[in-house]
Amino acid sequence: MTDTYLELVNSGFTKKLAKQLGLPRPARLRRHQPGQPLLDGPALVLGTGPDADAVATLLSSPAGGPADPRPDDAPVVLDGWDLEVHRHPAPDVRYAAVVLVLTGVEHPDDLTQPVLAAASTLKSLRSGARVVTISRPALETDAPAVAAARQGVDGFLRSLAKELRGGATGNGLALAADVPVSAPSVVAGLRFFLSTRSAFVDGQLLEVDSDAGELPTDWEKPLAGKVAVVTGAARGIGAAIAEVLARDGATVVAVDVPAAGEQLAAVANRVKGTALQLDVTADDAGERILEHARTRHGRLDVVVHNAGITRDKLLANMSDDKWSSVLAVNIAAQLRINEALLTSGDFVDAPRIVALASTSGIAGNRGQTNYAASKGGVVGMVRATAPLLTPFGGTANAVAPGFIETDMTARIPAVTRQVARRLNSLQQGGLPVDVAETIAFLASPAAGGIVGRTLRVCGQNMVGR
Ligand code: NAI
Repeated sequence: MTDTYLELVNSGFTKKLAKQLGLPRPARLRRHQPGQPLLDGPALVLGTGPDADAVATLLSSPAGGPADPRPDDAPVVLDGWDLEVHRHPAPDVRYAAVVLVLTGVEHPDDLTQPVLAAASTLKSLRSGARVVTISRPALETDAPAVAAARQGVDGFLRSLAKELRGGATGNGLALAADVPVSAPSVVAGLRFFLSTRSAFVDGQLLEVDSDAGELPTDWEKPLAGKVAVVTGAARGIGAAIAEVLARDGATVVAVDVPAAGEQLAAVANRVKGTALQLDVTADDAGERILEHARTRHGRLDVVVHNAGITRDKLLANMSDDKWSSVLAVNIAAQLRINEALLTSGDFVDAPRIVALASTSGIAGNRGQTNYAASKGGVVGMVRATAPLLTPFGGTANAVAPGFIETDMTARIPAVTRQVARRLNSLQQGGLPVDVAETIAFLASPAAGGIVGRTLRVCGQNMVGR
């Protein structure tokens, strides 16, 4: 579905008019293209101490691993991203990224210097620039001043993200106590937030729980050799997930109801995967998914629970059918399938579960008590499922999309839809590919240290956090 307003405020006369009238001017967001450089300009790394130095080194040192001679079949060691990196803001430089390394803050005063240094760059940031904080979450066991400084990063980051314009985003990584900045999920999370893959992720602090995970040998193919099942893959977000996972190197099993068989086959062909016609609410859905993956592809590594439905009604008018069908597809089916996977003994090689929640399940939405109960359920489900997978190096996480341009949101009445699109810091709806990129990141081996979390893909929606 095209956002005509976004097109108008980005072209010719109407662009000027919107500026004069002070109307919201959403920027055209850049999306990932294979081979694209990570950043289109210099990066500024702020903060002092060994963590800041390590991040600056990661960003600036050349890629490619040890010097020659190297055997032809040796994997490329990713020691650096070969970016132009500054440690102090230089005048007249337009930065593409500002990384604030704040892991060492012990008092709110410690924020002053790096934050004001970042402030001096903001008016001339490049369009689509990235601001990323790296910090530690405030704990009950912290000294009060330490907890104040750490929690202060949270408030700072979320407010800054609301001030950025021109498609720029602000996100943060919050590293659990003994997780080093060199942990695979910190490195991959930083790369995700810096890249155009996170175009519609804004104002989010992602916690990294451990140093588990494995960096890819090729950042363009982080899912090479993996077999991934995507439910609800015949259209919308599910079809985009299938495409992005395949682009990232996975072999994809596309699942959807038999009624969507033709569209499903088209998606499976496009991604050179296989199709499985299946209603995810079937009692034996988990067994059938495993059986298909095993017999057709020899293994199963990733399951993306994307199939979902809405049956919106105010609770006062809710029928048993509308309530129960939404719960059955959106959460009960996921629980049953996970149970089958976990008890099979065949889902034990660093497996990944990624499930679709929704901002409605976090912030609530009028007319969606059934949907929000199911999606809130997904947030709880991944939190409780993750510990069952950690003994095998596995994870379960969720992605909570906000307003995404799909058939589901095209059914919203026109005026409500226009308003809903503007109610986030990026002032536009996201695209299915934005959700898919975030899922691909959480499904990757490098994200093994992110455990039971829900990452929002909502452009920093005004409601909820
Ligand atoms: P969609 O309605 O366009 O596609 C959903 C797909 O799931 C369809 O292909 C449908 O046939 C399939 N499906 C439904 N019931 C099924 C079942 N029992 N078994 C197998 N497949 C089934 O939806 P859309 O917009 O692509 O959403 C995908 C997911 O993202 C859903 O879980 C939805 O709740 C979630 N989401 C979407 C948002 C949006 O703005 N579009 C916002 C937040 C979450």
